[in-house]
Amino acid sequence: DWTMSAYRAEMIRKIREQVGNERVICGLSGGVDSSVAAVLIHEAIGDQLTCIYVDHGLMRLGESEQVVGMFRDHYNIPLVHVDASDLFIDQLEGEADPEKKRKTIGRLFIEVFEAEAKKIAADGRGAPRFLAQGTLYPDVIESVSFSGGPSVTIKSHHNVGGLPERMHMKLVEPLRELFKDEVRALGRELGLPESFIGRHPFPGPGLAIRLPGGVTREKLDILRKADAIYLDEIRKAGLYDHIWQAFSVLLPVQTVGVMGDGRTYDRVLALRAVTSVDGMTADFFPFDMGFLGRTATRIINEVKGVNRVVYDVTSKPPGTIEWE
Ligand code: XMP
Repeated sequence: DWTMSAYRAEMIRKIREQVGNERVICGLSGGVDSSVAAVLIHEAIGDQLTCIYVDHGLMRLGESEQVVGMFRDHYNIPLVHVDASDLFIDQLEGEADPEKKRKTIGRLFIEVFEAEAKKIAADGRGAPRFLAQGTLYPDVIESVSFSGGPSVTIKSHHNVGGLPERMHMKLVEPLRELFKDEVRALGRELGLPESFIGRHPFPGPGLAIRLPGGVTREKLDILRKADAIYLDEIRKAGLYDHIWQAFSVLLPVQTVGVMGDGRTYDRVLALRAVTSVDGMTADFFPFDMGFLGRTATRIINEVKGVNRVVYDVTSKPPGTIEWE
């Protein structure tokens, strides 16, 4: 559309003006925001841009491979893929407090990112002076205020703040004035595949905040398999684009079940799906019972370690979208 094509041209002009001949590094998260920012900046300054993908091992099934494949192979954008999953998972194993989990992930992310940035700075092409971020307008508003009450911070978002000051870098934030739907329009304008643009938002701390309690490889594995089935059923039912976000949460609770002639004692999986305009408020999605029954049966039959599935019917407020 014309608004976005004008916006794109204007952003490219501004990025070139801000950056000049300097190098830029950009942290890719695999989400739409940082991807759109990276493609836009690459269009403006070519290989003055280097992207860093810190793989924290908390992504969904096959997701890291898709992100790296798309950027490196399809777009030819210089990309460093750092597999830091052991570091992250080892430190999250004994950590059950949601805020501490977020803080740990944020701290490790900065450490790994900084170390990679130093390597890039030493590659003989000059130290990058700019850090690109896919910050959106809603990210800029850190705290949420409910109906005239005091302003309260609900959750710390690890992908905002901290990094640029520490690294003595200037920020490039081309999406700072945009809402999510506008970022998607810009992504389309830039030719990103529709399947990628239309993806549900995914939180920076990844699956760690969908595993109440400590994070282990075993729990991650169960959650990944179950979540892939849930999303597959949602796509098959033609519901994906009607939902803002859908995901599973593996509870640290075991319940008794029966399968065949045997007793089982396995974990509970909660399914969540919400509609929303901007993530600030949300309603639970009214699936029909047939869909929920079918999906629960598939998950319990196909995923070892889960013997009970429940559906979360909480809206936001009072619940948040994520469980942690
Ligand atoms: P909540 O759970 O606060 O989530 O209702 C609102 C939206 O934000 C996403 N979310 C995050 N995104 N880093 C992110 O990039 C985070 O730390 C984070 N925490 C929540 C959540 O998935 C939902 O879309």
